[in-house]
Amino acid sequence: MSANYIYEDAPKIVVEPPGPKAREILERDSKALMQSYVRWYPLVIDRAVNYIVQDVDGNLYIDFNAGIAVINVGHSNPRVVKAIKDQAEKFTHYSITDFAYIQAVEYAERLFRYVPIKGGKKIFYTNSGTESVECTLKVSRAYHKGSRQYIIGFIGAFHGRTYGSLSITSSKPAQRRYFSPLLPGVIHIPYPYPYRCPFNTRDPDECGRMTIEYLTSWVLDKVVPRDEVASIIIEPIQGEGGYIVPPKNFMRELRSVANEIGSLLIVDEVQTGFGRTGKWFAIEHFGVEPDLIALGKAIANGLPLGACVGKEEVMSIQQGGHATTFGGNPVALSAALSVLDVIESDKLVDNAARVGSYIIGRLNDLAEKYSFIGEVRGLGLMIGIEIVESRDSRKPNPSLLKNIIYRSFKKGLLVIGAGDSTLRISPPLTITREVADKAIDILEDIFKTVA
Ligand SMILES: Cc1ncc(COP(=O)(O)O)c(C=O)c1O
Repeated sequence: MSANYIYEDAPKIVVEPPGPKAREILERDSKALMQSYVRWYPLVIDRAVNYIVQDVDGNLYIDFNAGIAVINVGHSNPRVVKAIKDQAEKFTHYSITDFAYIQAVEYAERLFRYVPIKGGKKIFYTNSGTESVECTLKVSRAYHKGSRQYIIGFIGAFHGRTYGSLSITSSKPAQRRYFSPLLPGVIHIPYPYPYRCPFNTRDPDECGRMTIEYLTSWVLDKVVPRDEVASIIIEPIQGEGGYIVPPKNFMRELRSVANEIGSLLIVDEVQTGFGRTGKWFAIEHFGVEPDLIALGKAIANGLPLGACVGKEEVMSIQQGGHATTFGGNPVALSAALSVLDVIESDKLVDNAARVGSYIIGRLNDLAEKYSFIGEVRGLGLMIGIEIVESRDSRKPNPSLLKNIIYRSFKKGLLVIGAGDSTLRISPPLTITREVADKAIDILEDIFKTVA
């Protein structure tokens, strides 16, 4: 598949998906793999270039998933591929836990230029988002020398599947069923979800204020002693929970509460990081400085890498207190360095902001026509379309969401859902306006059909 061929032809369905090759592989998959995944449609990938994916039967799709917000610099980006090959020829592993290498130092130094924390910073490398979150939780308790055991998280949050992260995850009961008991000391409060505010208001700012009021006057006054809270952990935009942007002032007020009670503020930027929202990190939209940040997904454009980054004085786990064999793998770090190169040289943060607001504009036009579009929201290329029964009822419409997603797949557009009934749009940050237009034309056709 040459690059020109796919750019010119996509999307192109040559065999109705799932074609014969896809069906055969899926049959074997169902026998060999534990079936704990939730798959939206039977896509079997053969290869991918930039924002186009080809399945095993030769169908070409526009990618509005980016491998779930991972492939920020485009599939098989040549500069990333070269970095991986070059490093693989030098050495592929030598555990950073016991030995040192330049890639780990160089990456940290370069990343720190973009991390929205002033002053000295330290990093700890992991292999995934969930491990980065685990690291922030452990760091936050260790920072207080074990004297503060509570962690405050948010309903609807997704932080990962290992036990610590799972204990603060709460976007679907299936994620927790049969796994309890989970980590003790975790308290969940509502996320300020302006479209469906748990406090029964339609005013976003009021929703933010009431969430803070709930935290201070109910949780902290009646349930949790203030001086026992180690950390508050939040996604600056809720991802898995429905691509929910909190009200403008909420994050600042949350920061003030954390300061008042002496707790750390952790932001989980695993999904929002590396330019996705039109800034390097989503928390920058809110003008707030966190104490700790969890990173993963797009950091190495698909190679397994994550990181927990924090204020120097906070990243203070004692020697022997935390480590991992593979975290900070040199091949993954070389890929991560090349990701920084590409984002910088191709100005992908700006592209995400520009193409993202163009997409939001087009989707808002569609929202005026179709009453099952409750709301279009998002920042940069992290965009959600709330699919509802009707604009007045605002009731989630998960079956319509599934229908739209499946029809998109059949027509050559890869997109999935989030939350109860949100269509989530998170293409590679390399996407152009022209390709975005093709994808939205497909959605528009489907909206017409299902209306
Ligand atoms: C915000 C957030 N945090 C953590 C994770 C967990 O990352 P991983 O699946 O790499 O463990 C995810 C994954 O979707 C996520 O979206």
